[in-house]
Amino acid sequence: MKDTRTLLVTGGAGFIGSAVIRQWLADPALRIVCVDKLTYAGNVESLKPVSDSARFSLEVLDICDAAAMRALFEKEQPDAVVHLAAESHVDRSITGPGEFIQTNVVGTYVLLEATRAYWQQLPADRQQAFRFHHVSTDEVYGTLGDEGAFSETTTYAPNSPYSASKAGSDHLVRAWHHTYGLPVVTTNCSNNYGPYHFPEKLIPLMILNAIAGKPLPVYGDGLNVRDWLFVEDHARAIRAVLERGRVGETYCVGGRAEKTNLEVVHTLCDLLDELHPSSGLHRRLITYVKDRPGHDRRYAIDCAKLEAELGWRQQESFETGLRKTVQWYLDNGDWVRGVTSGDYRRWIESNYGSRSAS
Ligand code: NAD
Ligand code: TYD
Repeated sequence: MKDTRTLLVTGGAGFIGSAVIRQWLADPALRIVCVDKLTYAGNVESLKPVSDSARFSLEVLDICDAAAMRALFEKEQPDAVVHLAAESHVDRSITGPGEFIQTNVVGTYVLLEATRAYWQQLPADRQQAFRFHHVSTDEVYGTLGDEGAFSETTTYAPNSPYSASKAGSDHLVRAWHHTYGLPVVTTNCSNNYGPYHFPEKLIPLMILNAIAGKPLPVYGDGLNVRDWLFVEDHARAIRAVLERGRVGETYCVGGRAEKTNLEVVHTLCDLLDELHPSSGLHRRLITYVKDRPGHDRRYAIDCAKLEAELGWRQQESFETGLRKTVQWYLDNGDWVRGVTSGDYRRWIESNYGSRSAS
């Protein structure tokens, strides 16, 4: 057996992938190859804390490129794939679903086939130890009424182009296990929040708009419910499942922190009143806007299986995690300016040329 395990982490320049890489590289027994197309959502600045590590490398590649994926497996000889690369924003999936089908469905298929070809020729001991970890979302289960929570046995009922494309990818991963014996594990997680979150999603958007004194756009009546988990806790859950999860199983991951969107925005406003006072209370900026089409009403996760089987527990409460997140955005104006200005894109083009994302 090798002393160091090599992981291919797809989508590692995104919000959750970069948290995984920053956290896991603290383990000297891991070498991580980040595979990322660097779309608008991928940001090498989020990997700056690990960019000098000899155990880290970045491959700017599209997971839909079958030849590139095959060559990468050949070159890196990984022990596991942690698959996070995806188009991830529901609103974008409504205005332009094509990229979601391409990356989330076709890209997952291409990656599974490259993985299978590589895995099949491994020696028996490495074949057995190999894992393909598919990172997915609770949104594949659709929407809940006032009661109950999603679990691993909930019927799939995706409602948005994003969740339908993720559901498609979950089914492909399942089929590659049942048909070809590929050793897969899947996690379906609730809404994440934390540092390095691209400011098109609810929490970072509200923080940055509030700091700038801009309106805080709440969709519909603001009473849609999401179950929030701090991103570092998600990264620890993925590690637990990758290392100790049963092959072929899925594990639901959640924060046991159900909040209406309005509760989230109120809490953010109150935190900013304390940490970044302005001339008036930040709640005055709340503006109700037209609802998202097909907006799922409520998500909640029952993560009892993950807790009971693998002993995972979240370490951050919603209150402590949100405070850390707000403080991080206040302290990291450079990162924010990088992802919200054209400088970042020009930097990518001058560093990666035509291989950069369109
Ligand atoms: P993100 O949008 O922040 O990052 C996605 C990353 O994938 C980016 O770095 C992007 O450049 C890369 N990427 C996109 N298309 C690619 C392609 N064709 N080839 C290679 N790389 C590509 O997303 P995130 O919020 O970090 O989510 C990561 C994963 O976790 C996704 O699969 C998502 O469905 C899942 N998930 C997210 C949440 C959440 O709350 N954000 C919750 C549960 C599950
Ligand atoms: P989002 O962060 O896009 O995550 P998801 O749709 O995957 O759950 O949105 C979280 C919730 O916040 C969702 O109910 C939509 C709502 N929302 C707003 O009210 N205003 C906004 O500007 C955004 C981006 C989201």
